[in-house]
Amino acid sequence: MWWEKKGHLEINDKNHLSIAGLDACTLAKEYGTPLYVYNKQRIIDNFTAIKNAFQKHTDNFRIHYAMKANSNLEILKILYRKGANIDAVSPYEAKIAMDAGYPQKKIMFTGTSVSNNDLKMLVDDNIFINIDSLSQIRRLRKIAGNNLNVSLRWNPGMGAGHHSHTITAGKYVKFGIPESNLAHAVELIKESGLNLVGLHQHIGSGWLADDVLVFLKTVDRTIDTAAKVQDKIGHNLEFIDFGGGPGIPYRAEDKEFPLDAYAEGICRKVNSSPLKNSKIAIEPGRYIVGDTGILLLGINTVEDKNIPLIGVNGGFNTLARPSFYGSYHEMIVCNHTASENKKEFMVAGNLCESGDVFSENRETLRKLPIPHEGDILAILNAGAYGYSMTSTYNSRPKPKELLIDNKSAKIIRKETW
Ligand SMILES: Cc1ncc(COP(=O)(O)O)c(C=O)c1O
Repeated sequence: MWWEKKGHLEINDKNHLSIAGLDACTLAKEYGTPLYVYNKQRIIDNFTAIKNAFQKHTDNFRIHYAMKANSNLEILKILYRKGANIDAVSPYEAKIAMDAGYPQKKIMFTGTSVSNNDLKMLVDDNIFINIDSLSQIRRLRKIAGNNLNVSLRWNPGMGAGHHSHTITAGKYVKFGIPESNLAHAVELIKESGLNLVGLHQHIGSGWLADDVLVFLKTVDRTIDTAAKVQDKIGHNLEFIDFGGGPGIPYRAEDKEFPLDAYAEGICRKVNSSPLKNSKIAIEPGRYIVGDTGILLLGINTVEDKNIPLIGVNGGFNTLARPSFYGSYHEMIVCNHTASENKKEFMVAGNLCESGDVFSENRETLRKLPIPHEGDILAILNAGAYGYSMTSTYNSRPKPKELLIDNKSAKIIRKETW
């Protein structure tokens, strides 16, 4: 199968799905469902792959893990031990990162529609702020006083993403400072007594091979703009940050992300520019944790209604991406991986909403081995924007999370309301 990865996702000798060497059906039985299962080694491997891709070209870079993708404390700790920094999008995320052991200097905040209370919490906690609006500069000056180091998120005018809702640069986008306001922003920062030390872009989330060219164009634009900003402020910027966004294959036909071309492109462009002494920063989330997490759900109902239906014991409160973005997630009946006896089903959740389905939309059925009630359904690539987007809608609890390390499993978050 296209999704099999040695040591991570395999089919075992019982023809069951195996996650990091453990039988998914046994895990579901032992710990109960709904259950998010993560593979520690895969998290480390993904992080290391990014690190190695950059290290071929420079030592002057840092990786900020975008913790909005998955903010489980244990996962944050694993990445901390591997040298990660943090991209936080709320003061609360920054606090969670500190709880996981990250010192303030490793955390950068990039927010949108930021309140005075947010700014105060960040300043009190000594967290670096990446500013996203003129309003934020004016208010920060009053809250923080002089001599605070800050950076600016600008909008390079072009974006990319797996869905229009995840494109975060270009027109009709709320994020960042547009080019037309940038000179004013730099001027305001100077007047405010704040120190501008970096320029940042984040063009969107979940782009793959074909979008790398678009991304590299924005890298050019950001470098050119940073060079102009340096001239204006009269000193070198300490860092230039290209945000996150690298995608993962969700479908058989999706290509692997071209990590080497991405890292080489960024490093070559920066190293041959007036920014060559600035540190390169990136903020991947999905690429690090996306394929490391699998959601296991119990099958409650198998029945022909107007259409053949599989009803499971989680919904968009458990995994929002299909309902929210129409996202594709591969599904596997864990104890029937080899079955040829397949049929097309609507795979629906247990929420009182017609849109509560795990395929891309209500009309798209999934061809799956015919399951029995009580079987386990695995939803792959649920490690990023899975648990972190859960809710308690319909007053159902949030699922448990389990980490597999060296073939031993431990609960890393209990069921919560
Ligand atoms: C500012 C910023 N950086 C990084 C990311 C991470 O994106 P991804 O998980 O696609 O790498 C996001 C996600 O939207 C973001 O808003």
